[in-house]
Formats: sequence, C-alpha cells, structure tokens
Amino acid sequence: MILAPSILAADFAHLARDIDLVNQSEADWFHLDVMDGLFVPNISFGTPVCKSIQQLAQKPLDMHLMIQQPERYIELFAGCGAASISVHYEACVHLHRTIDQIKSAGCAAGVALNPHTPVGVLEEVIELLDLVCVMSVNPGFGGQKFIPNTLTKIKKLKTLITQSGSHAKIEIDGGVGLQNAQGLMEAGADVLVAGSAVFNADHPKETISKFKQLA
Ligand code: DX5
Ligand code: ZN
Repeated sequence: MILAPSILAADFAHLARDIDLVNQSEADWFHLDVMDGLFVPNISFGTPVCKSIQQLAQKPLDMHLMIQQPERYIELFAGCGAASISVHYEACVHLHRTIDQIKSAGCAAGVALNPHTPVGVLEEVIELLDLVCVMSVNPGFGGQKFIPNTLTKIKKLKTLITQSGSHAKIEIDGGVGLQNAQGLMEAGADVLVAGSAVFNADHPKETISKFKQLA
C-alpha cells in the first residue's frame, strides 16, 4: 500500500517541520491539495507553497488539483516537481486532452471523481490513466466523515481497470484512518491519502508506521 499524507492537515506555521516528519517516516508520497475557491468552496495554496514544499520533500509529490479548468495550470504545477497530477473529471470539458497534457508535462496522469460521479465515466480513458482518485468525502475540506458507498465504488473501479487492462492505481482520498484502511485495501485500493488521521495524531510517525503495517 502506498500511503500519501495530505499536507492540507499539516501545521502551515511549521511546514518545514511537518515535511521533515514525512521525509523521516515510512510514508511514500506527499499529497498536495490545491483548491481554487470555485471548484470547491475552500482556498488552500498554490504554486509558491508547492515550490517551497518541493525544495524540502524527499518523496514524490502527488498533486490533487481541485480547480476549474485545470488545463490552465498543468505546466506550472509540473514545474513545481509534481510526480503525479490529478484533475477532476467534473472540472474538465476536454478530459482526454488534459490527460495528454499532464503526460506531456512529464507527470503521471490521474483523474479524481467526486462522490456522486460514477466510475463508468472513465471507461474511454481508463487505459491512459496512471491513477484514479476516488473521493470518499466531498472535496474542499480535511477532517470530514468517510462516505461508506466508496467501498462499492472501489470494487466497480477495480473491475473496470482489470477488464480494460489498465495499470491505473486506485487512490482513496478523504476520511481515511486506521479504522477503515484495511477494508479499503481489501476492496482494491492501492494508495491511501490521510490528512487529519496522520497530522492530528499524537504520534504522527508511529501512526504512519501503523498504516504501513496493514499493507
Ligand atoms: C479533501 C482533500 C483531502 C483531504 C483529506 O478535499 O482532497 O486530500 O486533505 O483530509 P482527511 O484525511 O482529513 O479527510
Ligand atoms: Zn486530496
């Protein structure tokens, strides 16, 4: 299992300390949530913060763009050291073109799906994808409650991926914690994003180890 702590839940007044914590831990990726206040109600951070994170992070940066018309910014985020970029299906009119754009920028290509969006909408592009991010909360905020229907959705996505011969990894984002991680992996998840479960824990590094022991 790949564990990607979400920096949204870090202490931004001590960002270097929290990045170092992830560097020193058994976590695999950094998950960066970019929000524009339009696609989602919240505004988080943009390229200047991503560039600062890039300077300190010793693990791949997994960028989750919760922004309208993300095609306007792919090259900019690629320039911030993104290993993977996920755009929202709901935010892209020309999704196929945007996936190409992400790959041309040298990044792994991901598509994120809001909780109400069925996995079937990816049928024609699934073979092109490296990552599918299944939102298990409505995007915009950390610390929300996991939506149980996600488990059914993961199984449907797993079937779609297997049948199409795609190599896409399944990432779960929102409300993930030690209490539901095992069930998510059994349903077919490859990547778990965890924000508050890691950074609000009394001992974040040990919590990360506990996640990894479930693998
Ligand atoms: C939600 C973000 C998530 C968020 C997860 O819009 O995409 O990555 O940081 O936070 P937790 O793990 O606290 O639900
Ligand atoms: Zn995210």
